[in-house]
Amino acid sequence: LPSWLLWTLAVLIGVPTAVALFFFVFTEGALLLRKLRGDTVGPASHVYPIYSRMWLIHMVDFQPIISSILLGQYGRLVSFITRSMRQMDLKDKDVLVTSCAFGNVVPRVVDAAFASGARRVELLDIVANELTHARSKLPATPGPVDLVQGDATALAQPSHSVSANILFFLLHELDPEMKRHAIAEAARVLAPGGKLYVADFHRPDARPLRLLSWLYFKVFEPFGLALWGTQDPVDQLQGQLGLPCTRQTAAFGNFQVIEATRAAAA
Ligand SMILES: C[S@@+](CC[C@H](N)C(=O)[O-])C[C@H]1O[C@@H](n2cnc3c(N)ncnc32)[C@H](O)[C@@H]1O
Repeated sequence: LPSWLLWTLAVLIGVPTAVALFFFVFTEGALLLRKLRGDTVGPASHVYPIYSRMWLIHMVDFQPIISSILLGQYGRLVSFITRSMRQMDLKDKDVLVTSCAFGNVVPRVVDAAFASGARRVELLDIVANELTHARSKLPATPGPVDLVQGDATALAQPSHSVSANILFFLLHELDPEMKRHAIAEAARVLAPGGKLYVADFHRPDARPLRLLSWLYFKVFEPFGLALWGTQDPVDQLQGQLGLPCTRQTAAFGNFQVIEATRAAAA
């Protein structure tokens, strides 16, 4: 084979393999290692190093990288949330962002909250480094943004205290029990008339995409598959918690944004 062809093949195979290996080592691979070492105590032991080590956060958190992980749908999914938030009257109300995420979701959601009149935004995460990093994306805001280190599965916020609550790609990272608690807590803190936004993965409509997605989850995000059916958040929110939901999907059903509403006080 000519050497240019060998080089091309090496790049075409080597680069994706190296990228996949990098992500595996600092996500699911690190959790497997923690399990082998018996190092699984503590509320943040399920969090991948990619979200807790500052050098990894800085290495990965670039919009084009994050958008490509979400198949180019990142901006659209955030827009589903911010468009709805901008139609709310959040005057003198509080907004909660339950866990940080890579990309510009935090600044965009904070912007939408203050544009709708919010009094204050609380940014919660179980990892202090995530809060510090998210803060750096909010150089100046029209109102206060409070950073709170806390656990989405056991929120310290009082019941019915926030008028919008955003969970952006958190649920797929949590085991079934944690997922159930995080959804229940997100609903508990929602004030009358308030909206809960849950953006996450969804069962793709088309078979080939479903197969690829299934492989991705098996390797990188094993808890994510439950969102496809056995633990559809809408079942819990609408069925058990009595919050009517609407769902928008994107990329042939691969992603979803659920909007759950608590009825306004009579
Ligand atoms: C929301 S996901 C973001 C993943 C997604 N792939 C992204 O960046 O778009 C990861 C965040 O959730 C946080 N997190 C994980 N478990 C949590 C929990 N129980 N309570 C609060 N934050 C949590 C992590 O610390 C991390 O900041």
